[in-house]
Amino acid sequence: MTRHLLFLLIAFLCSLPGMAQSENAPALTVGTSAPLFVAPDTLGQKVALKDYRGSWIVLDFWASWCGDCRREIPGMKRLEAAYRNVSIDGKPLKWLSVSFDDNHENWRKALQKYQMPWPQISDGKPWKKNPIAAVYKLKWIPTCYIIDPEGRIVSGVITAEGLEAELSRLSGKQQLLLPAPSTERGTDIMTALRKRHSVRQYADRPLSQQDIADLLWAAGGKNREDGRLTSPTAMNRQEIILFLFTAKGCYRYLPEHHALQWICDGDNRALVASRQEALAKSPAFIVMVADTRRFGQEGQQAERMMCADAGIVSQNINVCCASTGMATVTRATMDKDGIISLLGLDSTFDPILNNAIGYPAETE
Ligand SMILES: Cc1cc2nc3c(=O)[nH]c(=O)nc-3n(C[C@H](O)[C@H](O)[C@H](O)COP(=O)(O)O)c2cc1C
Repeated sequence: MTRHLLFLLIAFLCSLPGMAQSENAPALTVGTSAPLFVAPDTLGQKVALKDYRGSWIVLDFWASWCGDCRREIPGMKRLEAAYRNVSIDGKPLKWLSVSFDDNHENWRKALQKYQMPWPQISDGKPWKKNPIAAVYKLKWIPTCYIIDPEGRIVSGVITAEGLEAELSRLSGKQQLLLPAPSTERGTDIMTALRKRHSVRQYADRPLSQQDIADLLWAAGGKNREDGRLTSPTAMNRQEIILFLFTAKGCYRYLPEHHALQWICDGDNRALVASRQEALAKSPAFIVMVADTRRFGQEGQQAERMMCADAGIVSQNINVCCASTGMATVTRATMDKDGIISLLGLDSTFDPILNNAIGYPAETE
């Protein structure tokens, strides 16, 4: 009887997710050299790991037939976008995915479906007989290794969540979790619409954490389990990224986590105020930046859609402010180049609109 109970206990413990994870944990030792390899990309061009020396690498192992890998792809894509222009100790961070698909067509179709915008390679050999899987001692996919610019293993993880924690640790970027949005507050929508008007002068006090949390959630927070947002976007591309500028620093809003990703310290509100210098002391700005690569299409129609998407976000902010006693103005004026450069973005990002936000000045 006692032996039976012991057996059940062991079976139960082994079935715990933590146990499964530690069994599958990446096996290469931190600090050792990442094994070098060469494999062709989708066009048959050889890609060598050693050519990545001098950069940090997220080396991702996956296959289209692997359900756990497919499940992690949205998280990986979000992280790649979030860290696309982040450097660690002055060195760029690059992504490389190695697939263990032995059926080229399946691999190609999966790449077309999942649209991972970073280099993809595969030597076409099956996972169990794959020399790259062997030298990396892979017991499980997905597995990701982070490799430093000298080619050493820094860490290994098996989920996008784990990768996020490692990247945020390495880049020194903090994520600040926001208070949950208080979705019961505010006047009714018709009252808010009746009250809505542009305000360009604010009381001289910072916004509360709760107001920042509610505003960002109203602007473009996650309001459904499937990851969709309070503001609609054309084809649900979710290409409008929200950046918060306050007297203390700049942050990127992460709807998935309802959190702020720290970008830089310091007061850069003057970049957003631009020619309207009097607005530089506005307690906060939310800047709506279109990630045009994420939108995935070019041309006049695509640009119109992105502007429409940004406009909707801005109106959500306007209505939220009118409903909750804050004051705001939608603006197209801003120093776009200065903002792009401060945020470490490139020309594929387009700041479209911003809202200056505060509490009504006593004269209002
Ligand atoms: C797309 C757009 C861009 C705007 N750009 C600016 C701007 O750069 N600076 C500003 O002070 N107001 C800007 N505004 C605010 C408008 O001037 C304001 O909405 C308009 O005068 C109507 O006033 P109301 O919002 O109180 O109804 C903008 C509004 C929109 C919709």
